Amino acid sequence: MDKQLKFPENFWWGSAWSAEQAEGRGTTGKAETIWERWFKEEPNRFYQGISSAVTDDHLHRFKEDVALMVATGHNSFRTSISWARMFPDGGTGEVNPQAIVFYRALFSEMKSNGIQVFANLYHFDMPAKLQDIGGWESREVVAAYVHFADTCFKEFGDLVEHWFTFNEPLGPILGGYLEDFHYPNLIDFKRGAQAAFFTILAHAKAIEAFKRHQLSSKIGVILNLSPTYPRSKNEADVKAAEIADLFYTRSFLDPMVKGVFPSKLVQLLEQYDQMPLDFQPADLDCIKNNVAQILGLNYYEPRRVKARLTAINEAGPFLPDWFFEHHIMPGRRMNEYRGWEIYPKGILDLCLDIKNNYGNIEAFISENGMGVADEERFMNQVGQIEDTYRIDYIKDHLAYVWRAIEAGCNLKGYHLWTFIDCWSWINAYKNRYGLVSLDLTTQKRTIKQSGIFYKKMSAANGFEYNMENLN
Ligand code: BG6
Repeated sequence: MDKQLKFPENFWWGSAWSAEQAEGRGTTGKAETIWERWFKEEPNRFYQGISSAVTDDHLHRFKEDVALMVATGHNSFRTSISWARMFPDGGTGEVNPQAIVFYRALFSEMKSNGIQVFANLYHFDMPAKLQDIGGWESREVVAAYVHFADTCFKEFGDLVEHWFTFNEPLGPILGGYLEDFHYPNLIDFKRGAQAAFFTILAHAKAIEAFKRHQLSSKIGVILNLSPTYPRSKNEADVKAAEIADLFYTRSFLDPMVKGVFPSKLVQLLEQYDQMPLDFQPADLDCIKNNVAQILGLNYYEPRRVKARLTAINEAGPFLPDWFFEHHIMPGRRMNEYRGWEIYPKGILDLCLDIKNNYGNIEAFISENGMGVADEERFMNQVGQIEDTYRIDYIKDHLAYVWRAIEAGCNLKGYHLWTFIDCWSWINAYKNRYGLVSLDLTTQKRTIKQSGIFYKKMSAANGFEYNMENLN
């Protein structure tokens, strides 16, 4: 049975990307980031040896890109402000007037085209020089970040509608300290815990600075969250899921939104001697008093967990999966290109968790999307990608967002990852996520079928959906 799903008035329809993934290095002056540094050191780690030097060349093409935002139905868009571009001496020192000109021009262009500006201050792109003094393990870096944030509030405060301190702060900890997919490529939980703690402190201190500017905008954070499902109701599976959830979900969500750390996680880290070495009572006060005012939810896949089947190697490094194993659920629907399970109902469970356990804070889906390899396969004779799978993916997830709103969740919008196909870290251009395709040789942008659908959906503030697909 088809039903017209209508979303609340002024729902945010849009998408997101980040500075390092889209701008290109350009010639405005920019410090080396850890991605550029890592590429120099190990280009073999990047898919097809492609760096972030050019990406979408958005720096020079932003006017055309804003026109494409309009053409694909955006009323809001998130990008990040590059710390390295704002402070080309390595993340500190003099602010770069050319960076201010660029971001002011971009944000003004968006605003004059009816697109609200969502600006994020950190999307994995640490200036390399600051990494040299410890990155997020260093209080000095926290201070430099707060200065950068404060400069952005001053320079762009009149143009930005929503601010975000971090995108997916868990990512650099997982990748940089536990799983080797992000600089500085360490395997060291305790140092990761320190970096996580200082990231959370940096978030709180940036919010503290933001309040001093008395802007009418709001500030929050964007977290990658997955509901955690135990394989079964067996006590051992349930316990394994609880622990995985503490590490991956509550670790950042609780302090950044509620101002407190989950006591069970703290106890566990104390028991295994994995607490960060440097945390002061004044830090905890600052975290308590400066919490997110709005929450972005990045949802791609559920987390399925079971009790460990094998013994851990205690001589090896301490890792969260000492306590659980990932469960491959028979019958799951997969995005094989990215290796992520597709489970649209997870978005509803996630939103209900936020409603029930986090004071129903104002929230939105800040990322959700489907990366597909070799999309040229689906190109028609006029050069357009017929990505019907992406349209289905979007509808399937949005139907559960609609249901979450019906259930009282305080959800204000939906942003897709991503707008124009962009550079995806070590995967470079392997998987394409955009509403608009990008020809890497010519930089030509072409709206995909999903972009046309997105425009219609945004104009109608909803879409028709077969409710039998919901369960
Ligand atoms: C999100 C990030 O986790 O997922 C983006 O915020 C990223 O930066 C996106 O590009 C898709 O993941 P990937 O690894 O396929 O690029």
